[in-house]
Amino acid sequence: MEAMATDVNPRHVLGVDDLSASEIASIFTRAAQFKEKGFASSKILDREPGNSPVVALAFFEPSTRTRLSFDSAAQRIGCKTIGFDNPELTSSAKGEQLEDTLRVIERYSEAIVVRRKDHDTIDIIREHVSVPVISAGVGAQEHPTQALMDFFTIAERRPLESVKHLCEYGDVIHARPTNSQALLLAREGVTISFVAPDEMQVAPEMVSELESRGAKVILTNKLADVVADIDVMHVVRPQRERWEGTELDAYATIDAGVLAKMKSDALVFHVLPRTGEIDPAIDDAPQNLVWELVRNGLFVRAAILEFILT
Ligand code: NCD
Repeated sequence: MEAMATDVNPRHVLGVDDLSASEIASIFTRAAQFKEKGFASSKILDREPGNSPVVALAFFEPSTRTRLSFDSAAQRIGCKTIGFDNPELTSSAKGEQLEDTLRVIERYSEAIVVRRKDHDTIDIIREHVSVPVISAGVGAQEHPTQALMDFFTIAERRPLESVKHLCEYGDVIHARPTNSQALLLAREGVTISFVAPDEMQVAPEMVSELESRGAKVILTNKLADVVADIDVMHVVRPQRERWEGTELDAYATIDAGVLAKMKSDALVFHVLPRTGEIDPAIDDAPQNLVWELVRNGLFVRAAILEFILT
């Protein structure tokens, strides 16, 4: 059976808006079941030998956690995986266009996980690909599954409704999980602060989008302006690979001194890799989600794959 580009509405997850609130709730419930009981209840495991779905991992940009957690999650729920993590060893190094590469891959797989830097990626996928595609991060646009595992991990600690102030701290203009997190949370009654040096501050279009969803947006370069009000802080790495030749200034490390200024029930996380902007000495602080987040990636991505494949 050959997938055709004329098929209607493949269940892509290219941005957080591709999932409804109730679909996200079901994914979180399923992820919690996988976490608690293991993967034996996967709806895919009972397929006949030879009929396991194939998940293709097409990584045009470096990755550790995202690629390996998708690979591990896919295999644990009964899928097989194929793919590449070095596009230089694929036909894209010979000048093949993305749409052709994906048209090839969709003939070998039931779902594709794509990471790529170019901002035309999403439009090309929506126009040309007929098997479900999950974004594993596109340029500085979105990283939807990262935001889902972040919110799943926050929700293990406190109801998401209690998160009234999300702070995005650091190089927000060049980062992508920040956009997915902010879009996922933005609604009436929520404040989203972007604390960044001026040249790393969030794009005005994103501010307008968040405000149009009802959120109050604060832009500042001083953490002191907001630190005492924050419920959840995401610490963002300087995204040097997107600085395009310019050298921007470093910003202050989040450490125990900053935690002491935050509310006692505030949470802090970093999606990794980290490069000095969060102090490893606070890894074990009760407010810090960093390593639980890595673990939860497996369960949330397994739940997302099961959702789109069944
Ligand atoms: C993020 C990414 O690739 O956008 N990494 C990840 O998936 N955990 C964040 C980053 O690289 O800073």
